[in-house]
Amino acid sequence: MSQSIQSPGSNSRTFRYQGPLHGSESVPGDKSMTHRAILFGALATGTTQIYGWLDAADCRSSMHVVEQLGATVYQTGNALNITGTGGRLREPEDVLDCGNSGTTMRMFTGALAAKVPFACLTGDDSLRRRPMQRVLQPLLQMGASVQSRTGYKAPLCISGEGLHGIEYTLPVASAQVKSAVLIAGMLASEGVTTVTESVLTRDHTENMLEAFGVKLQREPMTDGQRIQVQPAQQLQGAVIEIPGDFSSAAFLIAAGLLVDESQIVLENVGVNPTRVGLLRVLDRMGARIERFNHKILVKEDVADIKVNASTLQATTIVADEIPSLIDELPIIAILATRANGMTSVTGARELRVKETDRIHALVTGLRAIGVKVDEWEDGFSVEGPQIIQGGVVDSFGDHRIAMSFAIAGLISAQGVTILGWDCVDISFPEFENALRRMQK
Ligand code: S3P
Repeated sequence: MSQSIQSPGSNSRTFRYQGPLHGSESVPGDKSMTHRAILFGALATGTTQIYGWLDAADCRSSMHVVEQLGATVYQTGNALNITGTGGRLREPEDVLDCGNSGTTMRMFTGALAAKVPFACLTGDDSLRRRPMQRVLQPLLQMGASVQSRTGYKAPLCISGEGLHGIEYTLPVASAQVKSAVLIAGMLASEGVTTVTESVLTRDHTENMLEAFGVKLQREPMTDGQRIQVQPAQQLQGAVIEIPGDFSSAAFLIAAGLLVDESQIVLENVGVNPTRVGLLRVLDRMGARIERFNHKILVKEDVADIKVNASTLQATTIVADEIPSLIDELPIIAILATRANGMTSVTGARELRVKETDRIHALVTGLRAIGVKVDEWEDGFSVEGPQIIQGGVVDSFGDHRIAMSFAIAGLISAQGVTILGWDCVDISFPEFENALRRMQK
């Protein structure tokens, strides 16, 4: 078989049609859950063993940060072990580098505000552009002092200790902000913390904290939920098994649907209902997808996913659905090029403040490969089916943009070359190999 990927070793890749995809693959461990397991392990008493963890650049940022805070991180066999600080994070001697990882910066800020006298966090060019006010605002209300660059941008410096609980309604639907407030609340010295969200965001923090022995109460509401956490809680080391990341599986699901005559199985994928909005969207688009081998790992639904190449119908995606598929919107744009009719996405302004402005990156890339697309302030629309001619696109340093256009290459007339390919290491270093194995 000829290779779908050219110029290995350079920082660009070309993907083109190489025939149908077949076979079974597992995808790398869930990124959101790996970050949480590392942080909670560092806060806990005793050693936490993490299986199925994601070995990729973003999670390495979290590992380096916990080491600077006094935790010990080491690998034995498949397990990532974190020997925790028993709730006594050490004041870091240097600035904490969160790399490209928004989850690291936002969640750790919650823990640092409660537990260390002084800490500063920074990140790469992308992370230093991203909004941090959303996480600093509630921490200020809890009694932390915060300094940042103008506009609440990183580098950030936090001094806290002795926080008090607050009642907080999330102004943006963000699991990272929810997590930061819950973490600060459970480590606060006094007062209950209550977080209300009007749209459910991913609930890995809630699920995993319970595994570390933290008591929290969750009260479902007509829209969203209310979560209450007691102060001064001590986490106990745990054994955590992490399933495959649905957001990584999403690229392969799209490949299986779009490339004619494909049939693939993705094994052991996390299908937590707060994460799989894409499956609900694909269901109404007519995708032939089955889930089987269901199981539960650390309160999380897990399944194998079988994907058959399908004829897709267009759909409309609006605000309420966005948090459950926020990271899948780039690949949805590619799926939309092949769906019959007008697919539109609105209420997705958050896409503008991800690793890059994903609406701009998508629209620019789609136009560069010959696709007509309309750009909105809070979304985009694409009328399909359209032929993807192919061409050269920029990843804008964003892993999900790069992988989305790789899948576009598989269904393009002339192939798609992605510039700035190495960002894929952020979440799915094995992406090319996984795709290549399924093309054999
Ligand atoms: C994440 C939450 C989401 C998501 C990000 C990971 C998490 O971000 O886009 O990739 O692990 O909590 P927001 O909280 O900004 O929506």
